[in-house]
Amino acid sequence: MPLSVVILAAGQGKRMKSGWPKVLQPLAGRALLKHVIDTARELAPDAIHVVYGHGAEQVRAALKSEDVSWVLQERQLGTGHAVLQALPGIPDAHTVLVLYGDVPLIRRGTLEGLLKLADSKTLAVLTVMLSDPSGYGRILRDARGRIRKIVEHKDASQKELRVRESNTGIIAAPAKLLKKWLASVKSNNAQGEFYLTDVAAIAAKGKFHVVPRLAHNESEVLGVNDKVQLAQVEAAYRHERAQELMLGGVTVIDPARLDIRGTVTAGRDVQLDVNVVLEGNVTIGDRVRIGPNCVIRDTKIGADTEIFANCVLDHAVIGPSCKVGPFARLRPGAALARDVHIGNFVEVKNAQLDAGSKANHLTYLGDALIGKDVNVGAGTITCNYDGVNKSQTHIEDGAFIGSGSMLVAPVRIGARATIGAGSTITEDAPADKLTLGRSRQVSIDSWTRPPKRKKS
Ligand code: UD1
Ligand code: CA
Repeated sequence: MPLSVVILAAGQGKRMKSGWPKVLQPLAGRALLKHVIDTARELAPDAIHVVYGHGAEQVRAALKSEDVSWVLQERQLGTGHAVLQALPGIPDAHTVLVLYGDVPLIRRGTLEGLLKLADSKTLAVLTVMLSDPSGYGRILRDARGRIRKIVEHKDASQKELRVRESNTGIIAAPAKLLKKWLASVKSNNAQGEFYLTDVAAIAAKGKFHVVPRLAHNESEVLGVNDKVQLAQVEAAYRHERAQELMLGGVTVIDPARLDIRGTVTAGRDVQLDVNVVLEGNVTIGDRVRIGPNCVIRDTKIGADTEIFANCVLDHAVIGPSCKVGPFARLRPGAALARDVHIGNFVEVKNAQLDAGSKANHLTYLGDALIGKDVNVGAGTITCNYDGVNKSQTHIEDGAFIGSGSMLVAPVRIGARATIGAGSTITEDAPADKLTLGRSRQVSIDSWTRPPKRKKS
C-alpha cells in the first residue's frame, strides 16, 4: 500500500522553557525534527506531511530545504487535531504512519515492523515497556492481548498508572479508517485536548483490530519534553554511535567521552582518546590516532596520521602519515599531502602543503600554495589580507623560510630559496638564493642606560 507519513511538530514544548520551538532543539547538532524527517525518508514514502504551528516561522526557516509538505495547525488543540489537519491531503488508499517530532531516535526497522501490521482492518500501535512510565499514555489490553484503550497519564486511575506498557505515540493505520475514527474524537479529558490516543478505544469498539507492537529498545522511543530528556537522548545517541565505531574496529578510550554529531567513517586500529568531538562528515583512515580534546568537523584524515591533543580541524583534508598539533588549527581549505607536519599554535586556512613540508611552531598560513619539503620557520606569517582583498603566497619546493618572516602577498618564493630570519618579504624571492628583507643591526657606542627617576 502507498504510504504517507505525518510528523507532529506543532507543539510549543512548554516544559523545555526555551525561546525555540521544541522540535528545533538540537540533538547531535541536528534539530530533533530533522532526525525524524531523515528517518521517515528512509522508508521511501509517497509523501511526508509535517504538522507545524508553534514557532511556525522559525520551524519553516530552519528546515526550508526539506522536501516535505507543510501543514499548518494554527491552534494546538491536541495530537488528534494535529493529525486531522494533514488527513485531507492524504488519499484514502494510503497507509498513514504517525511520527512525533519529539521522538527522534526511532529506527527504520522498527517502523517497517509496525507498518507490516497495519492492514485494512487494523490500527497498529508501537508500545514500549518502561521502568518509569510517568508522563506516558498507558496501554490497556483486553483478555486476548489486543489494545482496548490508551489512557493518558493525567486521565489515568491509580490502578491504570501501575501499567508499565506505554504508548510511544507512533501508530500506523489506513487513511480511510483514521479519518473516520478521528472525526469522533472528543476533548472531554483532563487537558481539554483532542487526543490521537482516543482512536484506539474508538477502533476497538468498532470491531477493528488494535494491535500492539512492542519496541525492543527503550531509547529509540524516548520522547523529549524537557532538557533532562534532551540530554538523555543525546547520551543514547552518543552511546550508539560509539558502539558502531568500536564494533567496526576503532579503539575508543572512553565511549562516554566521545561525541559524534554526524557521520563518521573510520578504518581499523584507529584510536580515539577522550573528549574528541566529531561533527558532520568525518572520514578517518587506518591506524590514525587522535589525541584528547580535539574538535573535528567535516574533515578527512589519511592513514597513519597522528593528531595530537587540543586541535581544531574544520573542513580540512589531511593526507597519510602527517603529524598535526598539539594546539593546531586547520580551517576550511587546509589541504595537507603526505608526511606534512603542522605543529603547535599553527593556523592553516585555504592553504595547500605538499608532501614532506613542515610548519612546526607559531605560524599563520593563509591563502598559500606550498610545495614539497618546504620548511616554514617559527613565527612566519603569510600577510594575505590588505584590509580589502586576499592575496596568494606561493612557496616552491625545498624553500626554507627563516623564523619570524612576514611574507606580504601576493608574493612568490622560488624553489630552494632561503629567507633570512626576521625578513619582511614584499617582492618575489628568486630560487636557490638567500634573500633578506630587514634593516641592518647597529650598536650605538655613545648610548647609556637612562638613570632611574626618584619617586616623589
Ligand atoms: C504523547 C501521547 C502519549 C505518549 C507520548 C509519547 C497523546 C495525547 N499523548 O504525549 O500517549 O505516551 O506522546 O511520547 O497523543 N503536537 C502537535 N499539535 C498539538 C499537540 C502536540 O503537533 O496540538 C505534537 C508535539 O509537537 C509533539 C507531539 O505532537 O511533537 C506530542 O505532543 P506532546 O504534547 O509532547 O505529547 P505527550 O504529552 O508527550
Ligand atoms: Ca512528548
